Amino acid sequence: MYQQHFEEYNKLSTINSLLCQIQYTLQAKGYDGVYFIVDKNVFRYYQEEIFLKLQKIEEKIVLIEADELYKNQAQCQKVWSFFVQKNVSRRALVIIIGGGITLDLGAFACSTWKRGVAFILVPSTLLAMADACIGGKTGINFQGIKNLVGTFAFPQEIWIAPELLKTLPARIFRCGLSEIFKTALVADLNLWNKICGISEWKGPILQEILFNAIVLKKKIVEQDPFENGLRKVLNFGHTLGHALEALSVEHSFSLLHGEAVAIGIILESYISYLLNKISEEDFQQVRFQVMKHQLCKSLPLDFTLERLQHYLIHDKKNYHQNLRFSLLEKIGKGCYDVAVDWEIIKQAFENYRNAQFI
Ligand SMILES: NC(=O)c1ccc[n+]([C@@H]2O[C@H](COP(=O)([O-])OP(=O)(O)OC[C@H]3O[C@@H](n4cnc5c(N)ncnc54)[C@H](O)[C@@H]3O)[C@@H](O)[C@H]2O)c1
Ligand SMILES: [Zn+2]
Repeated sequence: MYQQHFEEYNKLSTINSLLCQIQYTLQAKGYDGVYFIVDKNVFRYYQEEIFLKLQKIEEKIVLIEADELYKNQAQCQKVWSFFVQKNVSRRALVIIIGGGITLDLGAFACSTWKRGVAFILVPSTLLAMADACIGGKTGINFQGIKNLVGTFAFPQEIWIAPELLKTLPARIFRCGLSEIFKTALVADLNLWNKICGISEWKGPILQEILFNAIVLKKKIVEQDPFENGLRKVLNFGHTLGHALEALSVEHSFSLLHGEAVAIGIILESYISYLLNKISEEDFQQVRFQVMKHQLCKSLPLDFTLERLQHYLIHDKKNYHQNLRFSLLEKIGKGCYDVAVDWEIIKQAFENYRNAQFI
């Protein structure tokens, strides 16, 4: 069943072809109504180009505030309330358009609505195109812990239009690079080498790398859709990254998901080095690449290991009371379920704090 859904994954397209696909779907017979869950900013930016061209759109759309603080039950209830108001049946279709927050939350709301209504994902950030739209993970944050409540639910189709990236602020664009780096580091040395040679992320080279990253993630997910083994490699950078991100939400220090993952990649590469998996030169190269894209920040002094511990112990990968990490076996190959001691984590943080940031 999973395979069948993925066959529907389609080619990269333009805004115009995206609009045609939406219009075609709106007219298609067979659905008991087509509804939209859309990122508020995307709606604003693409009102003219997309939304005003769709008939009676205002009756069919619910808007999402894309902020980690609101990736929660309250916003999910807003979507369910909209479904109640519209009497959305199980035979309806929902088109979800936005970044990772909107896709995760929207897909979660759909997967739980009447035990599941069909949905299509239209990612609008680099991060969502390269990563969040693939693999069927849905979810919301709960009590400040990232993605604590969620489901596996696969979209009917995924429509990717890289042209949507034209309105993306530079900081948000860079966040997507973190996930692309992660995928290359755990799965493809050639892709990583290609990335290291890039000076400007645009045009055909951006599309080529994006496509490579999508195919790599898709391949890994197809082998282990429910993350019982291999898929865990994709959590590289995320154990410490998620803890930092969660801590930053409760703190006034702003750290976006991609930025937290970037720091996580540096910390967890250093742990891989301390555990004799990669060489010091490899670690330096990873750190250099991540820093080159201004993805790192120095951490506030009160981001202590003790405060991070609260989030680390809730990490979904832990078992038998041990913290389990996904690390690098070598550049281009990940490993998973590695138990790591506090002492090693502490050393990685000390190393990070001693680095100079641009
Ligand atoms: N399900 C998964 O497998 C998976 C994988 C990776 C990340 N994620 C999740 O994704 C989230 C991060 O996603 P993100 O980085 O896309 O952030 P996001 O969804 O918060 O979007 C970032 C910002 O960009 C705006 N935006 C979105 N598209 C735009 C566009 N085309 N033009 C202008 N502005 C636009 C949004 O309104 C928001 O302000 C995290 O919650 C993370 O946990 C999920
Ligand atoms: Zn991520």
